[in-house]
Order: sequence, then structure tokens, then C-alpha cells
Amino acid sequence: MTSGAVLERADLYAPPMPPLAERVDWLRLLSAFRRNTLDAFPGACLTEPTVTLRLPGGGRVVLLCVPEAVRHVLVAQGSDFARLPAGIRVLGPVAGRGLVTAEGEAWRRQRRVLAPAFTPRTVPLMARHIARATAACLRRLDAARGGPVDLHAEMQRLSLDIAASSMFSLEAGPYEARIRAMVSAYLGGLGRPRVSDFLVPPGWPTPAAPRRWFFRRRWRALIAELIAVRRAQVAGQGPRDLFDLLAEAHGEEPDGLLADEVGTMIVAGHETTASTLFWAATLLARAPAVQEALAAEARGLDLGEAGAAAALPRLALARAVVQEALRLYPPAYMIARRAVRDGAVCGAAIPAGTTVMIPTWVMHRNPRWWPRADAFDPERFLRPGEEPDRFVYLPFGAGPQVCIGAQLALAEATLALSLDGARPILPVATVTVRPDHAPPFRLARR
Ligand code: HEM
Repeated sequence: MTSGAVLERADLYAPPMPPLAERVDWLRLLSAFRRNTLDAFPGACLTEPTVTLRLPGGGRVVLLCVPEAVRHVLVAQGSDFARLPAGIRVLGPVAGRGLVTAEGEAWRRQRRVLAPAFTPRTVPLMARHIARATAACLRRLDAARGGPVDLHAEMQRLSLDIAASSMFSLEAGPYEARIRAMVSAYLGGLGRPRVSDFLVPPGWPTPAAPRRWFFRRRWRALIAELIAVRRAQVAGQGPRDLFDLLAEAHGEEPDGLLADEVGTMIVAGHETTASTLFWAATLLARAPAVQEALAAEARGLDLGEAGAAAALPRLALARAVVQEALRLYPPAYMIARRAVRDGAVCGAAIPAGTTVMIPTWVMHRNPRWWPRADAFDPERFLRPGEEPDRFVYLPFGAGPQVCIGAQLALAEATLALSLDGARPILPVATVTVRPDHAPPFRLARR
């Protein structure tokens, strides 16, 4: 790590953000769901421990905005809260009954099966894949130098490549365009949460249900093709990756849990990481001093396939940049649960059936917890005494359902770019936080 501060505080770049709403009534909620879910967060989340939103038909959503409330719901009284039916509706078509949507004993069993593939022990192997895929991505970007590049699409390609090779020992190549097209179309369209996902009782079909069902059929067909290719290509070599662990646990089950788990890992593992890489690169493009310091940190390190794992612990600033990008643009911009029994959080009554939401997006920008909250200041993660509270900084959630892929995601590298965007890029929340338009990047070699 470079010694001393990289940035003078006066130089800190504050990226443009949509403002928080003064008041959120149900009309505003309706339009937020249609346009940008980030518009649904009221400014009161910055000052109040809990904020209640009223839904048409008498429903309520309680937003939990302080660390005590987050700890209560995700850890201390975690068994009083379950996954949100709306979340299962939205993720179901891609994840089926995979780990992100599984509940109760099924979830516990699936988490036990997957855990060995995500221990720190696996990071060196992952690092090789990351190094190889990043080198291929850099070659593509190098070839595109000087012209406009759709960096978000490039980061999706990169993270899909990493997900396919590190988890399934597969070349994403032949499938990459189809997977990206399907996932992008779903997340930007049918996969966007709608008001009906919250209002229609669980088990009843929403207006989007038939089209989501058709999507699921096509998605499952693509995953079945991938599984067949994986089995044919890498047969009989003993357990070597996540796929083998999954196949051993679920391969013979007739209900397709293996396919659900594979689909879950592909979607959960690439879209969020692509978003992180994209926003990190966007922030870096406006902070040349940080780019410079990153380059200095990497200089002299072997970042090739053989050396990447050993270099990782020495990339402290790069990691801090990723952490700061995850603070300013958390791909999972909120965490939601449903109360399964009556209770109370920070003085707010939570009757059984209430939806509670942790607005990660707002908590990550609350000046109560973050000095210079709006500024891109990666060094905040390196300054002793500024470590964030674990129930305030929640890019990967917390508690037993914390993101299983957090270490893999954090291990992915960051690219240095120079931005030439005509319009400021504003975040839009669909299922993850994405850019509101494809900003043209012009790349320069350093
Ligand atoms: C920067 C990248 C990522 C972010 C921001 C992210 C974020 C999250 C968050 C916030 C949760 C918890 C949701 C909740 O409590 O309701 C979660 C869960 C999960 N994530 Fe990630 N994730 C990332 C990368 C990955 C990767 C690389 C994988 C897989 C390879 C993955 C797989 C999962 C799975 C399976 C769950 C469900 C865990 C469970 O319920 O037991 N994620 N993720």
C-alpha cells in the first residue's frame, strides 16, 4: 500500500446521485416501481430509526435505518423473519428453489452443500481464473482503445467468464452472449419488482406471472444445455469445483434442484460483480490520483495466473476502491424480510406479515455514520478508526444469510480507465443498481 493519503480531502469526487424523496406516498411508490426504485426511499431514513410506508389496501412496509434494527432482524431475532414472497416471485424465474430463494431446512441443507466451495481455501484457485479472464478482457479493451466502449457490457462479459470458469470449469464463450442477453432482459424487464409483487397474496398469480413462467422455461432449457456440456467436457476427474459438489448433492434429484442451483450461482455470481466493477471503474475515471496510486500499488506485482493469489493481500488500495464502490453503489440496494410473528423493532410495532426493509442504499450514505458521505474516498477503508459498523456497511448483508460469494466477489480486480461521458451517469435500481444509460468510455493505456 502507498504511504500517506492519496487524495487531498478537497479533491474528493462526489458522484451525482438521485435525491432522496421528501415524502413517499403510494403514488410516489407506484412511480418509483415503474421508473427507479431508488426514488422510493424517503429522506427521513437519514434521521429516524424506522420509517413506515403505507401501501394501498392497508399494507405497511417498515424501513429499518439504524444498526440496532438491522442486527435485530438479520441476527438477534432472525428466526422471527423469513424471505419476502415478493423477492421469491422476482428471483424465482432465474433461481427456482436455489439458495437465494430456499427457506427453512431446505436452505440449511443447500447452504451446507455450497459452503466448501466458498471457503478462503478456494481463493487461490479462483484467483487464477480471475487473472486469466481479466487478461482476456484487457486484450479486448486494448483492441477497442480510442473508440467508445460499453463498459457495463464488458464488465458483464468479464464477470460471467469468471463465474463460468471458477465455479463450473467451463468456457463461458459459446454461451456468454445468450446468458447475458437473457439475464439483462430479465433484470431490466420482467425481473423488476412491481407493486403487484407486494400486494397480491402469496400463491396467487400476479399479472407478470405468465410471462415470467415462459422466461423460466427458456432459462431452464439454457441451463440444462450448460449442464450437459459441463458433464460431457469434464467427466470423471473427481470433485474439482462447485459444480461437482452440487452434482454430488443434487444430481440425481428429479426436481431439478441442480439446475436451480447452477442458474442461481450464474446470476447471483455475475450480475452483482459486473455492477461493482462497472461502478468502481466509473468512480476511478473521475479520480485520476486514485488511478495513479492503484497503478503504483500494482506495479512490480505478478498479477498473472501464477502470481495473482499471492498478490491479492498486497492490493490494499484496490480492495478499498472496491469496498468504496460497494458503499456508494451497493448492487443489492436493499435487504427485505417478512415478519413471521408479532414483534417490535426500535419502538416500531411489527405485526406478523409486515414487510421490513433495510435500505442499504441510504445507510451507506448517511452522514451520521460516514464522514464525507457523498464523496468517493476509498481510503476511508484504510484509515485506522474509520472501520464501518458491520450493521451499517451491508453490501453483502449480514447474519446466517450473508452472501456466500462475498470473498470471491471481493477478489475480483479493478480496472483503470479514463472516462469520456457526455452525461453524468445516474444509478437506476432494477434488481441490482445499474447505470441509467450505457455511458461511452474511451480507454487510454497508462
Ligand atoms: C459484489 C458482488 C455481490 C454482492 C453485492 C452480493 C450481495 C448479496 C447480498 C446483499 C446478499 C444477502 C441478501 C439477503 O440477506 O437477503 C447475497 C446473498 C447471496 N449471494 Fe451474493 N453478492 C455478490 C456476489 C455473489 C457471488 C459472486 C455469488 C456466487 C458465486 C453470490 C451468491 C449469493 C447467494 C447464493 C446468496 C444467498 C445466500 C443465502 O441466502 O444463504 N453473490 N448477496
